[in-house]
Amino acid sequence: MSTAMPAIEHDIKDISLAPQGKKRIDWAEREMPVLRLIRERFRAEQPLKGVRLVACAHITTETANLARALQAGGAESLLIASNPLSTQDDVAASLVTDYGIPVFAMKGETTDTYRRHVQTALDFAPDIIIDDGSDVVATMIKERPELAKKIVGSTEETTTGIVRLEAMHKAGVLTFPSIAVNNAQTKHFFDNRYGTGQSTLDGVIRATNLLLAGLKVVVAGYGWCGRGIAMRAKGHGADVIITEIDPTKGIEAVMDGFRVMPMADAAKEGDVFITVTGNKSVIRSEHFEVMKTGAVVCNSGHFNVEIDIPALEKLSNGKREVRPLVDEYVLKGNRKVYLLGEGRLVNLATAEGHPAAVMDMSFANQALSAEYLLKNYKTLKPQVYVVPEHLDREIARLKLESMGHKLDKLTPEQEHYLASWQEGT
Ligand SMILES: NC(=O)c1ccc[n+]([C@@H]2O[C@H](COP(=O)([O-])OP(=O)(O)OC[C@H]3O[C@@H](n4cnc5c(N)ncnc54)[C@H](O)[C@@H]3O)[C@@H](O)[C@H]2O)c1
Repeated sequence: MSTAMPAIEHDIKDISLAPQGKKRIDWAEREMPVLRLIRERFRAEQPLKGVRLVACAHITTETANLARALQAGGAESLLIASNPLSTQDDVAASLVTDYGIPVFAMKGETTDTYRRHVQTALDFAPDIIIDDGSDVVATMIKERPELAKKIVGSTEETTTGIVRLEAMHKAGVLTFPSIAVNNAQTKHFFDNRYGTGQSTLDGVIRATNLLLAGLKVVVAGYGWCGRGIAMRAKGHGADVIITEIDPTKGIEAVMDGFRVMPMADAAKEGDVFITVTGNKSVIRSEHFEVMKTGAVVCNSGHFNVEIDIPALEKLSNGKREVRPLVDEYVLKGNRKVYLLGEGRLVNLATAEGHPAAVMDMSFANQALSAEYLLKNYKTLKPQVYVVPEHLDREIARLKLESMGHKLDKLTPEQEHYLASWQEGT
């Protein structure tokens, strides 16, 4: 294994971190059996041969394994970060050194560098874009629409990206098919719920070393991610409070055993606040003003707009970093509020993101969706598609099998019964 400067293009923090990154990528691979099967088939069949592919993703050990699968399938890939704080610099170094994949990403990159990397990704003139949050697709449509003519299609990893793609479609500016990977059942049922659930609390705990038992944890948003976070916080012994705007989600949270209240009330009670709504300014001035001293505030939604950080800065006399990625803000009356990970995805900023076992399914969806786009793009329309059901179910079957679980099969009598409208009482 060489750590010599490779000839391929890159903009990463430290190439000498490659050996550590390689070990961690291999460790994650052990937990990604479905993606491994896809990689082996891709190597034999070369379905992506010659395709130029940009992946805008969190540069983690799991993404590295997705990149390996795409490379095995014959794709020429380039990777950029989908968030300025989510890159694992050792992984970026190993991708460049050990796998010869160009990477433009570093943990803590400025917004300007992040945007420059998006432009680098577009300079690559991709045929397929694997996006996470829709920044590459949106930038291309806004600033470099001529590149869209070459695009076969895109795939989108997260809820917020799909909301943006639907808005582009509605505005009539989406000119190619896009596959909503997030909406596959084998993605959001598991990644958003169990992945975000576990890794968000991992991020809070690693950053603060707080004991969650006995604390009041406020979770804003009871969607797929929020349910997972609330469920895991309850498991830690926290008193969990939910804030919502959707009555159905609100009643679900109540029946799951949580208290539901507006943020204005929760702000007075909470010890730890976690936003995960995909919305903006969910925690704002009026909420910071009534928080208890010592309150910890963080976000696990895609963009860093859920917590109104400019409002927090305006209210405070000073700010200092008291632990890595823990900023202490001093408010009126010497009240202290702690912001984690600069309000960016806390599970990636202060922990390692989702465990590999869950990303196995998300990234199996990504790899199979890229292959599906190539096979079918001529008949697909410029709109947002769900992952075809047969692919989704096949991923679930393979995952279950790899975990050593078996299902029952319908008997002929049961098949007949389910297909018939005549059988009843
Ligand atoms: N941290 C991660 O690794 C990770 C993983 C997956 C998704 N995400 C992101 O997390 C966010 C949520 O994703 P999801 O799949 O749970 O979405 P979702 O649509 O299932 O849930 C979002 C919930 O937030 C609620 N909401 C909206 N505005 C609100 C407000 N002002 N106050 C309280 N609740 C409000 C909605 O009613 C909805 O129930 C998105 O930005 C998504 O991209 C992050």
